[in-house]
Amino acid sequence: MGKLSVEALDVAKKTVLLRVDFNVPLENGAVADDTRIRAALPTIQYLTQAKAKVVLVSHLGRPKGSPKPELTLRPVAERLAELLEAPVAFCSQTVGQEAVEHAGKLPPGGVLLLENVRFYPEEEKNDPEFAASLARLAECFVSDAFGTVHRAHASTTGVAAHFPQAACGFLIARELEFLGQTLSRPKRPFVAVLGGAKVSDKIGVIQALLKRADTLLIGGAMAYTFLKAQGNPIGDSLLDAEHIDLAKTLLADAPRMGKSILMPIDHRVASEISPDASAEVCGRDIPDGKIGLDIGPKTALSYAQSIKRAKLIVWNGPMGMFELPAFEEGTMTVAEAMAESGGTTIIGGGDSVAAVNKAGLADRISHISTGGGASLKFLEGQKLPGIEALTDA
Ligand code: 3PG
Repeated sequence: MGKLSVEALDVAKKTVLLRVDFNVPLENGAVADDTRIRAALPTIQYLTQAKAKVVLVSHLGRPKGSPKPELTLRPVAERLAELLEAPVAFCSQTVGQEAVEHAGKLPPGGVLLLENVRFYPEEEKNDPEFAASLARLAECFVSDAFGTVHRAHASTTGVAAHFPQAACGFLIARELEFLGQTLSRPKRPFVAVLGGAKVSDKIGVIQALLKRADTLLIGGAMAYTFLKAQGNPIGDSLLDAEHIDLAKTLLADAPRMGKSILMPIDHRVASEISPDASAEVCGRDIPDGKIGLDIGPKTALSYAQSIKRAKLIVWNGPMGMFELPAFEEGTMTVAEAMAESGGTTIIGGGDSVAAVNKAGLADRISHISTGGGASLKFLEGQKLPGIEALTDA
């Protein structure tokens, strides 16, 4: 899995194209959450201190191949300059003459951010000529865009082939180190906590983790499909009817493989989903007219105990509709158990990351992945094109 590190490149006075994932939420034209920008700082700062000329390329949102003013990266350049406490130049083109000129003007240690690479339809098509134009901007290529490594685009894969070596930055190295522990020789007990709404989104990861983890703890709306598959009444809870048979198969496979899939033994329910709905607690069977919106207190306690006993825990997906205060407890109990566990704790997926941030526990988690889709694909054991494109260590 080891990839050539940025530290192995001779970058002094050279122009380095650094692919980052600055796909961050914006609000009123400003960066609303700078986690991903901060996550790229170690590599950017390493390069500037090594006197490289740093040309940053990223996507933002899904502009579908044409310029969308609301998806400009300009506010990201401003936020990055604040974080670096240094100027960050911005070029309103990503490739072509203007971009070449901007890159050419950079002093050693200088930083330039190019406009949103997805303003060009060639990016997502991994167009070879577009990849070549990106490559013409620099002498070295480094990728630190972990959140985008599952996309085979020009700036994540195609461009790498134009350089004798393509290295990874510190963020990718850290993601590979932590997430890699779930693939090869994991510490045991290895517990996976999986939540979220749809079984379909998590099938690949459930199947893959069933092979590697010892115990799977299922929560979130996805749990109701599993309970239905077992014949338990689920009231008016969300059901992924198409996947009941698959849930049955997974439940039957687990004991044959010596694994346990644990499901909620109680729930927090309401008659309707509304911000002021109050929660009632019910047992495993959910009565008609009630909607399951969180795991119940007994389930939360038992999941917390499994998490605290484990040596490796990976968590993806909330246990309930935690954005409503009445239904946040299950997710918060899991977040607290993760923070209190003495094992290695890894969290992936935007919602579970938001939950641990909301609980103020982020600094007590071993690793919070910056990749949503990318971390899921990684846990599924899939090859990631943006990693494959990099030179082996
Ligand atoms: C993400 O936010 O998951 C990455 O930046 C990838 O974005 P995408 O799903 O639009 O390719």
